[in-house]
Amino acid sequence: MLNNVLMPEYPQIVSLPASPEGVVAQLETYRGQFLREAESVEKAAQAGNAAELQAFRDGWLGRKQGLLAQLNEHWLKPAPGEAKKLIGQQLNRLRGEAEAAMERIEAVLEAARLQAQLASETLDVTLPARAPRGASHPLTQVTERILGIFHGLGYSLAEGPEMESAWYNFDALNIPESHPARDDQDTLYLGPDLPGHLLRTHTSPGQIRVMEQQAPPLRVAVPGRVYRRDAPDATHSPMFHQVEGLAVDEDLSFADLKGTLEHFARAMFGAATRTRFRASYFPFTEPSAEMDASCFACAGSGCRTCKNTGWIEVLGCGMVHPEVFRAVAKKNPVYETGKWRGFAFGMGVERMAMILYGLDDIQRFYSGDLRFLEQFAAHADGA
Ligand code: DAH
Repeated sequence: MLNNVLMPEYPQIVSLPASPEGVVAQLETYRGQFLREAESVEKAAQAGNAAELQAFRDGWLGRKQGLLAQLNEHWLKPAPGEAKKLIGQQLNRLRGEAEAAMERIEAVLEAARLQAQLASETLDVTLPARAPRGASHPLTQVTERILGIFHGLGYSLAEGPEMESAWYNFDALNIPESHPARDDQDTLYLGPDLPGHLLRTHTSPGQIRVMEQQAPPLRVAVPGRVYRRDAPDATHSPMFHQVEGLAVDEDLSFADLKGTLEHFARAMFGAATRTRFRASYFPFTEPSAEMDASCFACAGSGCRTCKNTGWIEVLGCGMVHPEVFRAVAKKNPVYETGKWRGFAFGMGVERMAMILYGLDDIQRFYSGDLRFLEQFAAHADGA
């Protein structure tokens, strides 16, 4: 029969022996068969083979067709009083042994499974670690540190193009045609092929581009390269980096600006840092200020880092000028309502890095000199 062909090992029930000795002898025979099979199934389990266990369990302990269930049905149930007791005891013993064997085999199987998993997931801890090669540039490190502080305050990140139109770089920022920042002296124009285009002189056009795209409330930081027509020396470079910040909401005030930037100064230079705001002028903010931080190197008593002033100039800032909102409103009418207030700030990354690391020559950042750059490897990645 098909069943037999598939499972030749299945124990088959024989009819109930007539004498108690016959019962005991037959159960002993079953027990022997069981123990032999258990041994072979256990061997298979040690090799990780679980397939035989199921057939073995079904054959002996299956709820209806298993041999023990059948003995129960065909031997125990119909047996008369005295014989019932004997058969019952014998069957219980056999069942106890069968269940214990099953548990043991399952444990063996589980151990084999674990062993196989361990073998396949082996990690060779003797392999030499791959030391990271190189490190991010000090300017990248400082930029990321600045951005990280504002990220912690809920600022998102935006970037704008380095090639800008005069409109974004100047007009929209309320920098009139006559302003000295527009002189050829300061600005690198892109020549007759691209009239009205230039290399951005600051990251402030990022303010305009962000507001054109996003309605308030917004808080955003804009890092990037900027260009000015300056001859390179110890403190000037025709290309340098800035981080711009902008917050716009319904009722932002100068107090919000101060709170934000004081937090920034403490996060950047240490918890004991004090700040002061000096009145200043930028065409795109009103009022405008420059923020100084007490010198982290001497705590304000005067040293080389602060050129004996006790203070370090950190950034320019102010409340967004209504003319700036008006310029933005040409493309994004949300800004027309007059209900928005904003503050903005901008800082130089090179300046910040030079102060933090006590450097006296901006040109070192661009020299590619490994003897210089390698000194910053230890600072990288939060180290
Ligand atoms: N864009 C200015 C510069 O390059 C820096 C600046 C000052 C940015 C004040 C601001 C600000 O957003 O409010 O000198």
